[in-house]
Amino acid sequence: MFQLKAYFDYWIHAKGRHGTHSPYVYDFLDKCVTSKIPNEVKNEYVLYRKKLLQDKTKITITDLGAGSRKMGNQRMISEIAKNAGSKGKYGRLLYQLSNYYNPSLILELGTSLGLGTFMLAKGNQDTKVVTIEACSTTLQVAKDRLAEHQLRNIEFINSSFQEFLTNEKRVFDVVFIDGDHRGRSLVEQLNLLDSISHDETIFVLDDIRWSEDMYDTWKSIVQNEKYHLSMDLLRMGIIAKRKHQQKEHFIVKF
Ligand SMILES: C[S@@+](CC[C@H](N)C(=O)[O-])C[C@H]1O[C@@H](n2cnc3c(N)ncnc32)[C@H](O)[C@@H]1O
Repeated sequence: MFQLKAYFDYWIHAKGRHGTHSPYVYDFLDKCVTSKIPNEVKNEYVLYRKKLLQDKTKITITDLGAGSRKMGNQRMISEIAKNAGSKGKYGRLLYQLSNYYNPSLILELGTSLGLGTFMLAKGNQDTKVVTIEACSTTLQVAKDRLAEHQLRNIEFINSSFQEFLTNEKRVFDVVFIDGDHRGRSLVEQLNLLDSISHDETIFVLDDIRWSEDMYDTWKSIVQNEKYHLSMDLLRMGIIAKRKHQQKEHFIVKF
């Protein structure tokens, strides 16, 4: 019932690019989201995911987040790939953000099998992607698989988000938060990210409608005075501080 209502909220309010008066959001919808992804990248990604989906190897995972609603700690790689990886238009969006906004440094919280990492790193060879994962077994699978794709712009870190964010000093241009699906953890991560982000940093929050708790937290983030720009893309939400602009929220057709 909750998810039905949360999806309904989106569909009745979502507007296309002509319904938005914000140049930033218009540009995002008109240029970033419509930018083409080379066929060879699409094919490589499909193959990468297909191999994972066919891999019946069982691994024991450690999940510091809300975990899976369906699986225990002994999981087949194929099951993890099916349930946890960025795919479809949301996977493509990661490539497009990395390619269009030309960030120097991207942070991904939650590597899993490296599907999102692949798109972020492929989007821009001049970008460095720092990806964080607490489960060393899963991270090793991602490392091994990504090594087959000659991506030299990824830094893998085996750590909890909290430990990494407390000690990190570099400042990130794009942050993809896709790990611990609990509202209070999301708020804690955003607070820790404050000092290692800047006014234009693009924060991409995944699974904002995953649970009632996540959706309530998303709504409170939208209200937060710290973020002057927020965009609801159904599964994902995007926020930025952008202090110089008037505070605005957009529910955009994606
Ligand atoms: C949904 S998956 C990430 C999917 C990946 N970003 C993608 O796009 O393909 C979430 C991952 O975050 C990791 N994780 C969850 N909470 C964590 C925490 N507090 N610290 C470090 N890793 C965490 C889990 O182990 C899991 O592998």
